[in-house]
Amino acid sequence: MRTQRTHVWAGVYRTIQEAASDARRGSVASKGSSSRRSSSFEQQRWVQHQIEEAKKLREDGNRPGASRGILKEVLAGYLVGHVTPISILDFGGGLALEYLRLQAARLPMKNIRFCVIETPTICRAGRAFFRFEERVNFRSTLPSAGRRINIFHAANSLHYVLDWKKFLARALSLKPELLVLPGVMAGPIPTFGSLQSYYGNRLPVWFWNEDEFISVVEGLGYDCVFRNQAEARYFGRVRDLPMSNFPRSHRLRRKCDLVFRRNTARQA
Ligand SMILES: C[S@@+](CC[C@H](N)C(=O)[O-])C[C@H]1O[C@@H](n2cnc3c(N)ncnc32)[C@H](O)[C@@H]1O
Repeated sequence: MRTQRTHVWAGVYRTIQEAASDARRGSVASKGSSSRRSSSFEQQRWVQHQIEEAKKLREDGNRPGASRGILKEVLAGYLVGHVTPISILDFGGGLALEYLRLQAARLPMKNIRFCVIETPTICRAGRAFFRFEERVNFRSTLPSAGRRINIFHAANSLHYVLDWKKFLARALSLKPELLVLPGVMAGPIPTFGSLQSYYGNRLPVWFWNEDEFISVVEGLGYDCVFRNQAEARYFGRVRDLPMSNFPRSHRLRRKCDLVFRRNTARQA
């Protein structure tokens, strides 16, 4: 039982939808402890954590350990060949922490528009935090096509989306030039659903076969131009994903960072 507590994920389901119904059944059995997917990320605990992180980044975004993901490096490269303004959509971006990291890296922020797509609760907290910053805004749905988007970014968040294929198709119909995905739960494993423990809730999540994930995105008219093994911290240190409770065939050692570029020749 002691090792049980260190398990971040449990269960292998054919799909995340099956994982979700199992979590619902479990929560009814345990009388009403909510397992709604969004509820965990709308809890005060997560909102407060985001506010604390945002304050720290605003004070010193270059402190050791503040850096995350790959957006600032990708953006620095992208800016070499592009005229500003640049518009970035960040799905699941919390309290726009990535914006604060870009700011700390001294990218030309006055020409960058940064829009976070988050839960309504995080959006409210974000609007209050950034009330004097007109370059950052928050919304809880994808915008409709027509607006020019340069970069669609989603770090460690796509695996919570039930219909990920439909979501990606919608996101890419906005025609961003780059799709930047740090921390994708994909590797040489089968695609399956599982349940993530999060402060008493069980969140349905996807694990993907990496080739399948890439071929879905490529089928939407994007080429994979970068693949990197991502670093992630569990229990306070950078380590492999703690998945010893899964069959060997389903253990993912590391998440990956993926970047896709719109294939304009194919979409012309
Ligand atoms: C694990 S956190 C990742 C936060 C940040 N991107 C990072 O890499 O540290 C996942 C985020 O996705 C957001 N999220 C999950 N499902 C969502 C949905 N359907 N719509 C909007 N945001 C969602 C959550 O609110 C949460 O802030």
